[in-house]
Amino acid sequence: MIEQTFERLESRSRERIAAAMSREELEAVRVDVLGRKGELARISKEMGSLTAEERARVGKLLNGAKQGLEAALEARKAEFDRAALAARLDAEWVDLTLPATGAPRGSLHPITIIQSEIEDLFVSMGFTVLDGPEVETEYNNFDALNIPPDHPARDMQDTFWLKSGQLLRTHTSPVQVRGMQKLGPPLRMIAPGRVFRNEEVDASHEHTFYQLEGMMVDREVSVGNLIYFMKTLLSSIFRKDVTVRLRPGYFPFVEPGFELDIECLICGGAGCPVCKQSGWVELLPCGLVQPNVLRMSGIDPEEWNGFAFGLGLTRLAMMRYAIDDIRLLQGGDLRFLHQF
Ligand code: PHE
Repeated sequence: MIEQTFERLESRSRERIAAAMSREELEAVRVDVLGRKGELARISKEMGSLTAEERARVGKLLNGAKQGLEAALEARKAEFDRAALAARLDAEWVDLTLPATGAPRGSLHPITIIQSEIEDLFVSMGFTVLDGPEVETEYNNFDALNIPPDHPARDMQDTFWLKSGQLLRTHTSPVQVRGMQKLGPPLRMIAPGRVFRNEEVDASHEHTFYQLEGMMVDREVSVGNLIYFMKTLLSSIFRKDVTVRLRPGYFPFVEPGFELDIECLICGGAGCPVCKQSGWVELLPCGLVQPNVLRMSGIDPEEWNGFAFGLGLTRLAMMRYAIDDIRLLQGGDLRFLHQF
């Protein structure tokens, strides 16, 4: 009986569909059952030899079997899809209740940190923060600061000269000149910034580093005033009272000129490797402004005088954070920078 043939065929096929364990296996079953070389196809090919009446009967059975098996194949396939989706959801599971990690934050450069602390302090004492160009004239960098043409600081080794005859400023002192001309007396100014020297680079020398210039011009400014401001500055930077001393130091733009030392913060003056057993650490040059320097910028030295100092910001940052290689500061290594 043809009906029984179909029934057997259908139930055998359904068993195979149920037994398929993957989409690949299922596809192989589909090709066997419904494909051009499958059993249903063979029956359908043989229908030509049947009577019209038989053909109608077999055709109906054939279509019924085809539709039933197609539906069974679809259902099995959907089961695989659901299982695959469930497995993927499981694997890619994310706990949405966890706190978000947030965007990575940058950090301030150690020099920026020290610079803004010092700016805040001096602004609170009535000082103006001035900026000057890094490309300067020879006049502002040297002449106006009473540095004669034969001074060693003008040596080609120290200065980056530009083809234009200008130069990369070798210190922040030219901003004193600009400040005096712009503001006139009395004045209180600081000028932090980048300076350049034609130096061989090693752990303690850089061709590019940072200074912070300070200048005060008023009537009857004394070395006592200078010491007061320097002690205030250093106590604030090192967050404790510091003992200072002045030694004579020569800079053409100050007279008298000093090297200011602080009592070693590590050993308290007793002597240790940091202060080379001397008990003192050299910190910054300073002095009273040379009368010629005032005069050249249009300030009458009979009426006004002042003090000036030059703080090595780079060196200060290295002391504060115990950085032992100056090259780290400009190296751009994020592992270093993220520590601040
Ligand atoms: N401009 C000097 C330098 O860079 C430092 C300095 C500034 C000295 C102000 C005295 C007064 O070497």
